[in-house]
Amino acid sequence: MKKEVCKIGCIGLSGRGSSMMSLLLDLPGVTVPAVCDKVPERMEKGIEIVKGKENCDYEVRGYLDYREMLEKEDLDAVFIATTWITHIPIAIDAMRAGCHVGMEVGGANNIQECFDLVRTSEETGRFCMLMENCCYDRKEMAVFNMVKQGLFGEVVHMEGGYRHDLRDEIVLGRENIHGRLRNFMNRDGELYPTHEIGPLAKLVGINRGNRFVSLVSMSSKSRGLNEWIKNNKGEDYDLYGYDWACGDVTTTILRCANGETISIHHDCCLPRPYSREYTVQGTKGVFREAPDDTNGVIYLEGISETPHKWEDFNEKYRARYDHPLWKDDGTVNFTAGHGGMDYLILAAFADSVLSDAEPPIDVYDTATWMAITALSEQSVAMGGSVVPFPDFTNGRWIDREPSRRSPYCLDEICDEFFQ
Ligand SMILES: NC(=O)c1ccc[n+]([C@@H]2O[C@H](COP(=O)([O-])OP(=O)(O)OC[C@H]3O[C@@H](n4cnc5c(N)ncnc54)[C@H](O)[C@@H]3O)[C@@H](O)[C@H]2O)c1
Repeated sequence: MKKEVCKIGCIGLSGRGSSMMSLLLDLPGVTVPAVCDKVPERMEKGIEIVKGKENCDYEVRGYLDYREMLEKEDLDAVFIATTWITHIPIAIDAMRAGCHVGMEVGGANNIQECFDLVRTSEETGRFCMLMENCCYDRKEMAVFNMVKQGLFGEVVHMEGGYRHDLRDEIVLGRENIHGRLRNFMNRDGELYPTHEIGPLAKLVGINRGNRFVSLVSMSSKSRGLNEWIKNNKGEDYDLYGYDWACGDVTTTILRCANGETISIHHDCCLPRPYSREYTVQGTKGVFREAPDDTNGVIYLEGISETPHKWEDFNEKYRARYDHPLWKDDGTVNFTAGHGGMDYLILAAFADSVLSDAEPPIDVYDTATWMAITALSEQSVAMGGSVVPFPDFTNGRWIDREPSRRSPYCLDEICDEFFQ
């Protein structure tokens, strides 16, 4: 039976953690009695955010050490928004302490920790949900709906990217106590694959009837960060001329067991507007995200008015194929967080915690999507060699049960919740 109230502890309260916690607190049934950040001011600010909510009629405790929080608190779940290299170890400790986990996005450090994450979830019966908000983006969800209705025919190839100019955020990591810097100093590969891979993996049933079998990855040279430093901090800044490990653009191609290919780009060190370049191509047509990531162009053979000519997606198709979650504006707060997708992923997480039930992004999805980073680093290090992709389901991908039906399900659209 679904609980009326759950207790969630929040770990990591910088920009992302504090804004997501604030949204989470607005959801019915969610309380946050414990917050944690190893930076004292961020922990204190976290307490203030919780206490500042109108419905906060409970005590809120702050911790600098998440292990102490896990030991002392009786929590149903934790939400982790720390740095990339700390996500999985904290998630494992939290599941061992009896908590379900919602974990912010980022790539894995190595394949062993992905297996450890999966086995810990299996052993403890606690779930670990990657909080991949882009799975709930309006455009991705509408295209998912169209694919499921067969409008693109059989899906053959997909593309995506995390193309986001983050030069200041990366370089000023010490001044702003931000986690990206040391990754770009020391690691070369697809460091942030999940924004684009999450929705694409769901589209072709990865871990349920399909799986990634291999990938190849190559990185360009690295020039963007030193150029930014020269122009913004000057040549006396100590990192000017640093030999950055991460190439400015990393390109990765994945191959799926059912024959689809997916190419993705990691591109955060050069001047450019934001784009995820979401592209789906099938035997009957193609969708391609427009430079403005809220719209796209589409061509469907036999449906589009003029052969060989793109049509505007929002103008002609989106309203008709919107996912029902996006039509239900009685419950969705469309303005909150990245145009509404942050709200939806948090609502999906809270629904699973309150129901004590499988989340729409499970531990197999989490491990698979995050593993791309570690595999990509290996491939880049070997000059673009093909790297085999581990199967975290241990063979069960061929006949796993369908996922739990809920309004937030990402494997199919569960119409019964939208009557
Ligand atoms: N889904 C999205 O759209 C989205 C957007 C922004 C950031 N993110 C992700 O959210 C995460 C956090 O992002 P950010 O920009 O706030 O990062 P950040 O580096 O500014 O913050 C990380 C915070 O975690 C704390 N921390 C690190 N290790 C800790 C530990 N062991 N115990 C307690 N606290 C610890 C740090 O002190 C810091 O306050 C990252 O993984 C990032 O990739 C996701």
